[in-house]
Amino acid sequence: VSDRQRAAAGGPPALAEIFAGPAARATPSPIARTLELVERTPGMVSLACGNPASEALPVTEIAAACAAALADPERALQYTSPRGLIQEALAAHLLRDGVRARADELLPTTGAIQALALLAHALLREGDVVVTEWPTYPVNLASFRTHGARTIGVPMDEEGMRVDLLDRLLSTLAHDGQPPKLIYTIPDAQNPTGITMSRARREALVETAARHGVLVVEDAPYRRLDFQGEPLPPVAALAREEAGSEARVALVGSFAKTVAPGLRVGYLLAPSALIDAAVLLKQGEDFCTSGLLQLAIASLIQDGTVARQETRFAAVHAAKLGAMQAALETEMAGLPVRWIRPRGGLFLWLTLPEGMDSEKLLERAIAHRVAFIPGRAFYPPEKAGPDGVPARTPPAVHTLRLNFSYPPLADIPRGIAALASALREML
Ligand SMILES: Cc1ncc(COP(=O)(O)O)c(C=O)c1O
Repeated sequence: VSDRQRAAAGGPPALAEIFAGPAARATPSPIARTLELVERTPGMVSLACGNPASEALPVTEIAAACAAALADPERALQYTSPRGLIQEALAAHLLRDGVRARADELLPTTGAIQALALLAHALLREGDVVVTEWPTYPVNLASFRTHGARTIGVPMDEEGMRVDLLDRLLSTLAHDGQPPKLIYTIPDAQNPTGITMSRARREALVETAARHGVLVVEDAPYRRLDFQGEPLPPVAALAREEAGSEARVALVGSFAKTVAPGLRVGYLLAPSALIDAAVLLKQGEDFCTSGLLQLAIASLIQDGTVARQETRFAAVHAAKLGAMQAALETEMAGLPVRWIRPRGGLFLWLTLPEGMDSEKLLERAIAHRVAFIPGRAFYPPEKAGPDGVPARTPPAVHTLRLNFSYPPLADIPRGIAALASALREML
């Protein structure tokens, strides 16, 4: 007897019917669906995921750091304070980027995703507005929307978010009595476009957000994965230079792309009142981030492994990007596609001719044994227009995201050739 039949017979309601707001609003991630498909299909070249290069993971260093952490079983293996154990190491890590942070402004989290989820949980009520880039990272987009937020994207150019449009949008929203709760930005090698926000744009963003009194949330997992070796100052550093710890800025950091995603260690830097709220909420989520893995990260920061690993990943990923660029130039010659050359990170953003749907291309691509993430998932439902007025806008479905860091170097030319074959079939 199904839940539904039982409910019809006067029994308790079907489980799905008792789901409350957030679960009812949650939608399956198209990325997860594609990744499952990739796992099931042998011989597939996956350009779909967001993993760093497996061959460059710091396995020995992590083993040594965990062994060292276990010398202190009380902190490594018992429940620990929800506030975390490694604020000092995180402060030292941030100082390399010119960000000065006190312990009460820092919270180690279970991945950057948890830091973002805690912020969303602490700040958002049904109907609140969140401004993002257009396109943006879909996991956080989903988290904002799960809390009932209205998400509006600001178009980007090669310098990042169009802050002139943001300024107009913020004026429109203030005029309508709907000032946003936060502006969410990924300034370094953005996911999905690979675009790095210029310094001038970062300064303009800080100035504009401060003038409108809106909190900026900077999500920075790709920081220091800059192939030119010259990462720009974090938005948080610029904001805090101006306004010190009063600055309305939060920085979400991660060791997923610079050490290993499976450790699930990230952090939040935010005004202490916001950290206090996040700590309370974290108690009901996972209580504390693994002490063992926090201590391991702290020792990897302190012994210089994190800094070395950033350089190592950047070098391996830059070589793979080079292979992908070369393959694209050969295989896509004469085909109507464009792409952005990223200066870091993990992704390359490809644009097909308008009118083409990259989800349809994915179906053919899978038959050719290559997978990527279609662009549709990355777009919030509304976009800021040139006059700063937001409007419901269909996603740019003729775009797609290619990952260059994870596939073995030797597979990249085959993957791009397969993609070009699939594309030719559609033209
Ligand atoms: C922009 C962005 N934020 C956050 C994350 C997730 O970070 P973590 O694995 O630390 O939760 C990712 C992963 O792809 C990302 O691209």
